[in-house]
Amino acid sequence: MNSDIEKVLFDQDQLNKRMDEMAARLNKKYEGQEPIVIPVLNGAMIFASDMIKRLTFELTIEPIRASSYEGTSSTGKVKITQDVKSDVKNRPVIFMEDIIDTGRTLKALSDLMKERGAKSVEVISMLDKPETRVVDFYPDDYGFKAPNEFLVGYGLDYNGLYRNLPYVGILKQRVYA
Ligand code: IMP
Ligand code: MG
Repeated sequence: MNSDIEKVLFDQDQLNKRMDEMAARLNKKYEGQEPIVIPVLNGAMIFASDMIKRLTFELTIEPIRASSYEGTSSTGKVKITQDVKSDVKNRPVIFMEDIIDTGRTLKALSDLMKERGAKSVEVISMLDKPETRVVDFYPDDYGFKAPNEFLVGYGLDYNGLYRNLPYVGILKQRVYA
């Protein structure tokens, strides 16, 4: 284990099992619908690529890049720094995210796609951190409920590092204190 990690919360086996379950539900729901899958970069890239490989329906992938976070605290502003390139009008949209924290990012992105005329919008997140929610937003499905700690791994970073860890863990406080 990486020495900056206090504790492993969800390992690859646990994540695989939940991703199988989440994908099974999507596979029933979206057959024949040809949705646009929107991974929210960079954090969702690992989770989304694992999820997408499990999907059996026709789909297109259009990443989006948004940021509302610097260091370990949310700034409250959501900025789209790379937008989707195709028209979402009348298409179902499935966002894939690493973690829902304050809820601001996915609330803003969901509202935007509804404004653009998406047929439906759903949000799938690897983790949900409900204790720190500040806007009224809940993902349609999530892998695991996360405690109010700073987590890294499986796409989650601290200043760009630790995304490659094949598990989700709690970062030791001495790393960011
Ligand atoms: P929200 O808009 O507050 O829901 O922010 C969600 C974004 O904050 C996620 O996409 C993550 O990039 C980041 N984030 C929230 N909690 C953590 C964490 O514990 N570790 C790493 N990134 C986090
Ligand atoms: Mg993110």
